[in-house]
Amino acid sequence: MSVYLGIDIGTSGTKTLAIRETGEILASATVEYPLYSPHPGWSEQDPEDWWKGSAESVRLVLQRGGISPEDVKGIGLSGQMHGSVFLDQDGKVIRRALLWNDQRTAQECAEIEERAGGREALIGMVANPALTGFTAPKILWLRNHEPQNYERVRQILLPKDYVRYRLTGEYASEVSDASGTLLLDVKARAWSKELLSKLEIAPELLPKVYESEEVSGTLTSAAAELLGLPAGVPVVGGGGDQAASAIGNGIVSRGTISATMGTSGVVFAHSDEVQIDAGGRIHTFCHAVRGKWHVMGCVLSAGGSFQWYRNQFGQAESSAAAAMGVDPYELLTKQAANAPAGSEGLFFLPYLTGERTPHADPNARGAWVGMSLRHGKSHFARSVMEGATFAMRDCLELIREMDIPVNQIRLSGGGARSQFWKQLQADIYGQEVVTINAEEGPAYGVALLAAAGTGAYQDVVEACNATISIVTETKACEKTQATYQQAYPIYQQLYRSLKNDYESIADFVANEGE
Ligand code: XUL
Repeated sequence: MSVYLGIDIGTSGTKTLAIRETGEILASATVEYPLYSPHPGWSEQDPEDWWKGSAESVRLVLQRGGISPEDVKGIGLSGQMHGSVFLDQDGKVIRRALLWNDQRTAQECAEIEERAGGREALIGMVANPALTGFTAPKILWLRNHEPQNYERVRQILLPKDYVRYRLTGEYASEVSDASGTLLLDVKARAWSKELLSKLEIAPELLPKVYESEEVSGTLTSAAAELLGLPAGVPVVGGGGDQAASAIGNGIVSRGTISATMGTSGVVFAHSDEVQIDAGGRIHTFCHAVRGKWHVMGCVLSAGGSFQWYRNQFGQAESSAAAAMGVDPYELLTKQAANAPAGSEGLFFLPYLTGERTPHADPNARGAWVGMSLRHGKSHFARSVMEGATFAMRDCLELIREMDIPVNQIRLSGGGARSQFWKQLQADIYGQEVVTINAEEGPAYGVALLAAAGTGAYQDVVEACNATISIVTETKACEKTQATYQQAYPIYQQLYRSLKNDYESIADFVANEGE
C-alpha cells in the first residue's frame, strides 16, 4: 500500500492527514499552538511551535491510522501564507514570525509602492499591489524597526517552508505560496530581480522556488527518527493554504470556481493565463497546477461574522443547543430561515476586521442598516448570513468581470454544511452550487500533490479527477434569486456611502481620549 501525508501549518494548529492514492482518508490529527499579539494589530507565532506541531501530528496520524512507516511514499506541505520566518547564518530563527493577519506594515506598503515607481508599476512586476499582510512589507519593517535583527538575516522562509527546512535541510519554496510574498514575478514563476533590486533585498535571502508537485528534498535521518518514518521520503513543493485547498476541491480547470466560507471567505478561480485586475482588487497568484495561475478574492470576516453573531447575540440559542445536544449554528440557522429573503430591508455589512476584496480598506467596519420596529432576531441572524454571502458575491463579480467563466461553483467550509446556507448561496450567486466528497481542505490537497509528484499519478489534475466527485447539487430558486438581484446593488452602495464615515471613525478611535 502507498500512503501520502499532507501537513497543513494553519494559524490555530497543524493538521496532518494520511491518504491512499485512491484518495481514501486513513487518519488525521491536529495539534494546536498559541498566537501572540504583543501590540494591537500585531500577530506573531513561534516557528518552533509549527515544527513541534508538525512532528507530533505526523506521529499521531501514523499511530491512529495503524500505518506502516515504510508505506509512506511522499509528503506534501501546506500552510498559512505570507508569514515571515527570519533565519541567521546557522539556520536559527531570529525572532517570532510575523503572520498573514499582522497589520503593522502600512508605512512599508507605501515605501514599496514608492520604490517600485507607483502602484501600477508594482502590479506590472509582481501582479499584485502591496497589502499589509504580504511578506515583502514585513521584510522592510524588520529593516526599518529592528535593524540589529535584519543585519543577521541570511534566509527568509514562509511558514510551511520552515517546516520543510526542518524536514529536509533544504531552503525551498514553491510558486503558489511564493506569489503571496509580493516578490515573485508571478508571470515568469521566478523571483522578481527587478523588484528585489528596487527594494534593496539581496536575492540570496530567498529560497529556491519549485513547482508545487516537484520534489524539493527528502527526509533527513534526524527528522525521520523524530517523526517515526524512514529517511529519504520525498517532500514535494506543496502549496499555500488557498491553492492547496483549491486542489483539495478539484479547482484545476477553467470555469470551476470554489467558494469557501470559513472564518474568512475565499472565492477562487483557476486560470490558464495570468489575469490581473488593474485595480488590484483581487489577488493573482501562481496555481499549484504546473504552469497555471489563479485569481482569488478574500473576504476577511465571512463565516467569522456569523461566529461573532453567535458569540455576542446567540447566548440563548447556544444554551438551548447545549441542552439539546445540537450545534448552536443549527438553531441560529433555523431562526434565520424564519425571516424572508432580503430580511425585510435589513442589511448587514460584514467588515468586522476591515476588508480585503474588493475594498482593500482596513478602516471598513461592520454595520446594520435599515433597522425598523418590524425586525426581530430572525432578521438579524438572516441579514448576517446574507451580508457575508453578498461579500462573497462581490468576489465572484470581479472574477466574472475578468472574463473567467463561472460554470460550476463548489462550496466548502461552514457555508457548505447547512442546506439553508447552500440555498442562500445559490440564490445570492444566482446559479447552482455543488459540494464534493472531499471536505478536508489544504492537507488533502497537498497529500494529492505528494501522490502526483511521486508518480502515483501523471499530474495533480489526474489525481483530482480520480479522487474528487460531486455529492450534492443545489439549484437557485427563481423567486428568491430575483429578490437578491434587487437587494445586491443596495448592499454594494452601502459601502460607498459609508466609506468616508469609516475614515472618520478610524480617526476618532485613534485619537479618542487625547
Ligand atoms: C491568503 C491568506 C490566508 C492565510 C491564512 O491570502 O491570507 O488564507 O493564508 O490562512
